[in-house]
Amino acid sequence: MSIQTREPMVRLTWTDPVTGIHGYLVVHSLIAGLATGGTRMRAGCTIGEVEDLARGMAVKSAVFNLPVGGAKAGIDCDPKDPRAFEVLTRFCTAMRPWLDDHWVTAEDLGVPQHLIDEVFAQIGLEQSYHAAISRSTDSQRTLRRVHAGLNAPVPGGLLGDVIGGYGVAQASLAVINAWEKPLERTTVAVQGVGTMGGAAAWYLHDAGAKVVALADAAGTLFHPEGLDVPTLLDTRDEYGEIDRAALPEDVRTLPREAVLATEVDVLIPAAISYAITPDNVAQVRAGAIVEAANVGTTPEAEAVLTERGVPVIPDFVANAGAAAWAWWLLLGQVGAEPADSFSKLRSEMLTKVAYLMQAWLADGTAPRTTAFELAETNAAERAQDSEPVLIP
Ligand SMILES: NC(=O)c1ccc[n+]([C@@H]2O[C@H](COP(=O)([O-])OP(=O)(O)OC[C@H]3O[C@@H](n4cnc5c(N)ncnc54)[C@H](O)[C@@H]3O)[C@@H](O)[C@H]2O)c1
Repeated sequence: MSIQTREPMVRLTWTDPVTGIHGYLVVHSLIAGLATGGTRMRAGCTIGEVEDLARGMAVKSAVFNLPVGGAKAGIDCDPKDPRAFEVLTRFCTAMRPWLDDHWVTAEDLGVPQHLIDEVFAQIGLEQSYHAAISRSTDSQRTLRRVHAGLNAPVPGGLLGDVIGGYGVAQASLAVINAWEKPLERTTVAVQGVGTMGGAAAWYLHDAGAKVVALADAAGTLFHPEGLDVPTLLDTRDEYGEIDRAALPEDVRTLPREAVLATEVDVLIPAAISYAITPDNVAQVRAGAIVEAANVGTTPEAEAVLTERGVPVIPDFVANAGAAAWAWWLLLGQVGAEPADSFSKLRSEMLTKVAYLMQAWLADGTAPRTTAFELAETNAAERAQDSEPVLIP
């Protein structure tokens, strides 16, 4: 059965007994008893959103041929709420049957990896990949490998924090390569400068592209000649907001939504879901959209963009680097040496996005259509393969 049309296996709604806040877990599918997907915290998060994201995880896993199904959790709580940590702890405690044996979770919007790991340590599960690590023949060795990989220092931060954004940067570079456009003349705008957007901007700037606009929850920062991305990112607070008091004088401050209307080659939504909608798509003046955010573009808005000749590299390819890499680490396909991780992700992402762009440039086939075909083909092959997953 198609991944996209299959009903999720489990939908759970949790009510926090202390605050009344709701949390949701959707397990779209299990492969060999395992599903993977992050945990987000956002005021207004709904079960519908979590279900879309869980399906997206299943597709992501299939595109990258990972031996695991898709899941996602969301808690309807502002991450800045002083009760957020306790709520997350109670949610994870309630989800123990899934976290113990079947569901591998990780960071997502509003929940950085160190925070979810702190919660896991508190509830006695050591690390958020527990369900997979506990299957290893030597779980302490696997745990050490996971810790070493996540915490390996690299330019721009720690490997586990930047790898997803590095993958988004590679997806963007593949689009630029397909256009055969010189990097130094390529302009980029990024909505969101947290884990994903910050690293995507950092690595695109490092590669030589001009990042002319960056937005966080407080507004858009703009410089037509390119922003000094590393310096700005260094001033971020724990919520991924850039310190306005430390801005250079020549950086313009614009309203938050202005980032979407910037005239650029590549626009990267890397914050909220449903950022580009039918209401604002007419303002978008980018040559391509690379989705770092999950469901960054609504289907209706994407149809308009496709009609206008603007390719959208879908989330389940562009942002899948974080999930794919976590599984490569668990499966022992990469270790703590960052160069191996960067090289594997670079080569997989450049190849996949080049393939999507080839179809787009040849006959206008939307990248999402080509990517879904790839996912379905891989999933069908995986369904024939009944090998158990070995975590070394
Ligand atoms: N972190 C991951 O590993 C990961 C992996 C895959 C996909 N994603 C997706 O990427 C997106 C961002 O996740 P993250 O982990 O980087 O989040 P984060 O919490 O680390 O950062 C979010 C950033 O977005 C900004 N922001 C929030 N609302 C905004 C708005 N309305 N306009 C502009 N900026 C706004 C915040 O100020 C912050 O800079 C989410 O959609 C998430 O699902 C994350």
